[in-house]
Amino acid sequence: MSALLEARDLVVHYRDVPALTGLSVSVAAGERIALLGANGSGKSTLLRVLDALQFPDSGTFHFAGEPITAERLEDRAFSREFRRRVGLVFQNADVQLFNPTVFDEIAFGPLQLQLPKSDIRARVQQTLQQMSLEHLKFRSPHQLSGGEKKRVALASILVLDPEVLLLDEPTAGLDPRSASEMVELLASWRGAGKTVLTATHDLDNLEDIADRVIILQDGRIIADSTPFHILHDVGLLQRARLIAAHRHTHPGGAKQPHPHVHADPLTPPAAPTSDRFGPPADSAATPPIPRTPATPRAKDPD
Ligand SMILES: Nc1ncnc2c1ncn2[C@@H]1O[C@H](COP(=O)(O)OP(=O)(O)O)[C@@H](O)[C@H]1O
Ligand SMILES: [Mg+2]
Repeated sequence: MSALLEARDLVVHYRDVPALTGLSVSVAAGERIALLGANGSGKSTLLRVLDALQFPDSGTFHFAGEPITAERLEDRAFSREFRRRVGLVFQNADVQLFNPTVFDEIAFGPLQLQLPKSDIRARVQQTLQQMSLEHLKFRSPHQLSGGEKKRVALASILVLDPEVLLLDEPTAGLDPRSASEMVELLASWRGAGKTVLTATHDLDNLEDIADRVIILQDGRIIADSTPFHILHDVGLLQRARLIAAHRHTHPGGAKQPHPHVHADPLTPPAAPTSDRFGPPADSAATPPIPRTPATPRAKDPD
């Protein structure tokens, strides 16, 4: 099957700062992908290129077989169609919100697409309910809390029901309850046919929000696999700066300077705790452990 999103050899610089350094990726319709990578690894830049908000210095991006270039997007009909099919939710909701009320904010996209008025009203109402924003509909988006702003920003994209959703750290900065509601929403798209790329640092919920995980480092892809395999490769996660080796003290005073997974309190340890991921740190391949993968920085009963 041909890819819905196809990026080839993307290179992007901000003046002399490299952001993407030869990145290629193919995304099929319906895939849910998590983009991992340390700060500055190029996640946001990639999402902006895939949303045609910026164009690469070199390399190509095709959407549904069409080359996406600045010239192509000057065609208003084409641009409108692209915007209807692909939506990006920014990490910082403030840059996305500019309308006087939440209602207007969510109605803005459908109005731009010149949908019938009654259709717009119904869509906005449905989205307000879906995102638990009904009670805020006459408030100014700029006076909402960070989490509320994020929900409004997402609602303003979801109302268009785009085929492709690009989400830049949707849970970052949310309180635990709002973050968990956001994860539930992302999880609800499993098997729903939506193509979703989520930049995230949240390893805990990886398996709920994605079926494929891509790790970026220095503007290129260093791993592309299933959540299961990625979460079990401690060496990889460490090299990509996604988990930290930490030093702490075990009962009896033993110091543990190496990275290791702590025992899950609900599961009897299958092996001595500190060996559960086999050779730590720089070892390339680490064997999977025989239980549901949890975040390597798991709770610490020991
Ligand atoms: N507007 C910008 N101006 C200059 N440098 C930028 C800008 N945006 C990003 N960068 C740089 O590009 C690199 C990639 O950044 P970014 O795509 O934001 O990564 P991530 O989202 O993974 O943190 C970083 O080195 C960052 O400092
Ligand atoms: Mg970013």
